Amino acid sequence: MELRTLGTSSIRISPVIMGTWQAGKDMWVGIDDAESTRAIKSAYDAGITTFDTAEVYGNGHSERIVGNALNGVRDRVVIATKVFSNHLEYNQVIDACHRSLKNLNTDYIDLYQIHWPPGTFGAKKVPLEETMRAMTDLKAQGKIRAIGVSNFSRRQLEEAATYGRIDSLQPPYSLFWRKVEKDAFPYCRKNKITVLAYSSMAQGLLTGKFGRDHTFAKGDHRFRNKLFQPKNFKRVQEALDKLRPIAAANHITLGQLALAWIISQPGVCAIAGARNSEQAVQNAAAGNVCLSDEDLMAVDTIGRIVTDPLDDDPVMWEW
Ligand SMILES: NC(=O)c1ccc[n+]([C@@H]2O[C@H](COP(=O)([O-])OP(=O)(O)OC[C@H]3O[C@@H](n4cnc5c(N)ncnc54)[C@H](OP(=O)(O)O)[C@@H]3O)[C@@H](O)[C@H]2O)c1
Repeated sequence: MELRTLGTSSIRISPVIMGTWQAGKDMWVGIDDAESTRAIKSAYDAGITTFDTAEVYGNGHSERIVGNALNGVRDRVVIATKVFSNHLEYNQVIDACHRSLKNLNTDYIDLYQIHWPPGTFGAKKVPLEETMRAMTDLKAQGKIRAIGVSNFSRRQLEEAATYGRIDSLQPPYSLFWRKVEKDAFPYCRKNKITVLAYSSMAQGLLTGKFGRDHTFAKGDHRFRNKLFQPKNFKRVQEALDKLRPIAAANHITLGQLALAWIISQPGVCAIAGARNSEQAVQNAAAGNVCLSDEDLMAVDTIGRIVTDPLDDDPVMWEW
């Protein structure tokens, strides 16, 4: 998989990034630590060099699993983690970073991201200037190599960028969720900010494995995902039916088609979550898929069957 540059930093990342929210266990069902560890190692063996986690994923559990799994290859991988919206005061950011360093069993974080904007999830609305002061101090001390933001609007991103260099934006982005295209995309392109697309397979929906009558196990947060609601289901299945022959003609899975479409765009990488080795290896293989312009255009148009009728709310879940 050919590596790409993260923003204007010297960090090189894989176009398919492994997401490890699953490894945190909270909000997912049936996750096994040994399997999460195997998945991370298999992803690395299959060419993924970049791993995304967060302090909030199982209250440090995901970070500990990632740190453990990558222990022997730390200098060959890029680790991205995040500070949650309840830790955005200056001292809280510094403390959260030190906790993450300990969890990850490392002395530097490659990419440190502000997970959600100030004031979200009932948190105090800390001025961005204060949070960014902590982030830039951590960078100056070498504890983090680059700063990113996640779930920020263009306006919030622009403001954060006035306080320090931002190298990435992590928004929800997939064939079935494209709101960021109209909002922050042009700004990112112009300012060389890499887009790290999360829920890049629409939380599994784009793999085509969830049928009309699917219900999630109790404790699986995905029942709150707007794309899984009955009002969207008919359009989702219609789009998947149209995507299937394109995937088949390219000898790839639907999930790989969804990831390949994302990473075909310059400056955009796909974070693919996985609960086991098989998924991680399949997702890694998408990093080597090259679709024709014709297929890319067809896939793009099919995605709009789902996205065109959606409203403008950028948040993918009804929390
Ligand atoms: N910044 C943020 O606020 C934010 C929010 C969400 C996610 N993220 C990050 O982005 C990552 C990815 O997002 P996501 O996990 O929400 O969604 P996703 O990557 O679109 O979907 C992940 C799910 O898709 C299924 N899947 C993955 N690979 C598969 C394969 N090869 N074959 C069949 N099924 C497969 C699995 O479902 P099953 O579990 O049902 O097998 C898996 O749990 C997360 O792990 C996290 O690192 C960040």
